[in-house]
Order: sequence, then C-alpha cells, then structure tokens
Amino acid sequence: MVMGRQETILVTGGAGFIGTHTVVQLLDEGFIVWIIDNLHNAVEEAVQRVRELVGPQLSQNLHFCLGDIRNKDDLEKLFSQTKFDAVVHFAGLKAVGESVAHPFRYFDNNLIGSITLYSVMEKYNCKKLVFSSSATVYGQPEKIPCVEDFQLKAMNPYGRTKLVLEEIARDIQKADPEWRIILLRYFNPVGAHPSGKLGEDPIGIPNNLMPYIQQVAVGRLPELNVYGYDYPTPDGTAIRDYIHVMDLADGHVVALHKLLKQDNIGCVAYNLGTGEGTSVLEMVAAFEKASGKKIPIKLCPRRAGDATAVYASTQKAEKELGWKAKNGIDEMCRDQWKWGSQNPWGYQSQP
Ligand code: NAD
Ligand code: UFG
Repeated sequence: MVMGRQETILVTGGAGFIGTHTVVQLLDEGFIVWIIDNLHNAVEEAVQRVRELVGPQLSQNLHFCLGDIRNKDDLEKLFSQTKFDAVVHFAGLKAVGESVAHPFRYFDNNLIGSITLYSVMEKYNCKKLVFSSSATVYGQPEKIPCVEDFQLKAMNPYGRTKLVLEEIARDIQKADPEWRIILLRYFNPVGAHPSGKLGEDPIGIPNNLMPYIQQVAVGRLPELNVYGYDYPTPDGTAIRDYIHVMDLADGHVVALHKLLKQDNIGCVAYNLGTGEGTSVLEMVAAFEKASGKKIPIKLCPRRAGDATAVYASTQKAEKELGWKAKNGIDEMCRDQWKWGSQNPWGYQSQP
C-alpha cells in the first residue's frame, strides 16, 4: 500500500464484476473511492464484500451511492459535494445479444448515460477519465494480434456504443485539451479475486464462456454448448485472449496514475489482454484441471457474429503504461473455481 495519496476517484458501475475488483485495488493504493451504481446488474452485497476484503480502516475510504448516470440530479448531488480527481467509467450494459434485440436500451444506457456523465464532469472541472472500451471495437479482425491503430468497426449495437463512445471521447478531448482520457480495450475478462470473495455473478443463463463453464462445474447447468468446432484453428474451436480480472484491475490503477501525473495524455487507447490466444476446448481442459470436475460438452453450430480468433498486441500498454498481465489461464481457472465453489449461487446464499 502507498501511504499519503488521497486523490478521490468516482467509479461508475463500481458494484459490477470489473468494478468491484478495481475498487479493491484502488483502495489498497490509498485512493478515496466513491461508487455510483444503479444495481441494474449488481448487488450491494458485492460492495459489502469489497469492504470485508480491504478491512475496516480502508473501508472508511469507500462510499457507495445508489444512482444512475443517466440521471443528472444523481450526478450533480455527487459532484457538488465532492471534488473528484478522476472518473473510472464502467457503468453500462454489455450483453451483445440483448443489444441486438433492444438497441434503444444500449443507446440510452451507454450513450446517453456517458454523455450525461461527461457533461457533469465538464461542469465541475473534472477532466480525467478512464473509460471501459472493449476488443469488440476491432470487429472481426482481419489480422491478429489486434493493434490499437487498427481501423475500428462495430458488429452490433453494443459494439457501436463502445465505438461511438471512443469517438465522443476523442472529440471532447480535441475541443478541450485539458481533458486527459484513457480508453482501455478489454479482451475477455475472466477469473475472480484470489480470496474467493468477489467474482462475476451474471443474472440468468450466462452468455460468456467462463461463467457458463463455472455453472456447469457446480451443477447449475448440465453441459457446455461449444459454439463452433469447424473454425480454422488447431482444435476447430474459436480462440480468444482471456485476461485475469485482477490484471485488468491493475491496468486501471496504472492508467489512473498516468492520468494524474502526466499532462500531455490527450485521448489514448490501450489494449488490456495477455497477448495469448486460448481455444474454447483448451479453456475447458484448464478448468477441468483446476476444479477436478468433468465439464460435459455438446458440440454446436457457430454462434452468429463470432470471430475465429481474437487476441491483443500488448506492446503499447507494456511500453507506455508499464503494465503486463501476470496471470495465465491456470491462475484464471484456479481463481474462477475458488469463487464458483465457495459461491455456487453467486452473491446469493441460495437460489
Ligand atoms: P457489470 O454489468 O458487472 O458492471 C457494470 C455495472 O454498471 C453494474 O454494476 C451495473 O449495475 C452498473 N450500471 C449499468 N448501467 C448503469 C447506469 N445507467 N447507472 C449506474 N450504474 C449502471 O459489467 P462488467 O463486466 O464489470 O463491465 C464493466 C464495463 O466493462 C462495461 O462498460 C462493459 O461494457 C465493459 N467491458 C466488459 C467486458 C466483459 O466481458 N466483462 C469486456 C469488455 C468491456
Ligand atoms: N462460447 C461457447 N459456449 C458458450 C459461451 C461462449 O462455446 O456458452 C465460445 C464463443 O463462441 C467464443 C468464446 O467461447 O468463441 C468466447 O465467448 P464469450 O461470449 O465468452 O466472449 P466473446 O469473445 O464472444 O465476447 C466477449 C464479450 C463482448 C466483448 C468481447 C471482447 O461478451 O462483450 O468479449 O471484449 F466485446
């Protein structure tokens, strides 16, 4: 822990999966943290677990506000009472399929929510921002690894909100060079806090691979559907760059330090991935090894819109942020299983 640093950070969506893990790291670094979350996809118990993890002393530096970033009054209340040094902006919706079926939800929550947040930040002269972007902005990349200066494309309304929000951030910074903005493009965040106290707790049937495997392992779901086994990859299943959520959280801490210290940042994007590709079947095998559980699979047709292989170039983050992921898939599966086996129903004690 670094003592003496008392900058105050607003974390939107801080009760969610990546948010809670990042808040733990920020508190450990000595920051004062305010969370604003509307609990649309989170529970207050997750914030309580953060408090337990950091202990009574650092918990005093954590404040939770039930609020919505689309509601200017909620934001005004916060900004008029507290001087924030920077904002880490996670709040948003993230389910690709839902975004295709209900695009307005995504335009409203992600676009209007973010624009409302930025306008209040501007009003209160808080012009340092870390934004949750996504590898989705690379679309179906023609080349891999994905490098930050590739041309960007949106494959669905969710991806379009991330792409537009990246462009909006660039416009804001261009109009007012006092803004310092770091766009972090996450690859596939998985794993959990190594204590087993925090993790991902999706509502309903998971869309993503790791939470799905976890729910098969604890007996909540009977088998894993493997979407596509005829991809041009060594084992025929699709390849992704899975990154441990603790590495991702650390990426936010280093990005914040850069924002707070350096004045010529502009608006800059960094990939946060490991640079390693792992296939679906490799992930299943690693999880079976970590958990000692058999994961029954069913080979299914490809999922619409899925890319064959996506992984990051990590050079820019290594060079400019001094950040590199430390954990590989064995650690990701170990910690995912610790969380899953200790919390089979997530933050609920029973179904
Ligand atoms: P999450 O759903 O667990 O966290 C998002 C949090 O934001 C939730 O706690 C939710 O209640 C809150 N929220 C949503 N709308 C809000 C609003 N209008 N006002 C206040 N709070 C609101 O998701 P996550 O996995 O932690 O993702 C965080 C961010 O990272 C999102 O912006 C997501 O798009 C992005 N991202 C996630 C992934 C991933 O696979 N998890 C990958 C790339 C990018
Ligand atoms: N998969 C299965 N079975 C499942 C779930 C997933 O075989 O039940 C496969 C998918 O077909 C894909 C791979 O596992 O090949 C990974 O799928 P995820 O849904 O876990 O992740 P994606 O790469 O499709 O997408 C995720 C987020 C997006 C984000 C993207 C890049 O869902 O929002 O990572 O960050 F844009």
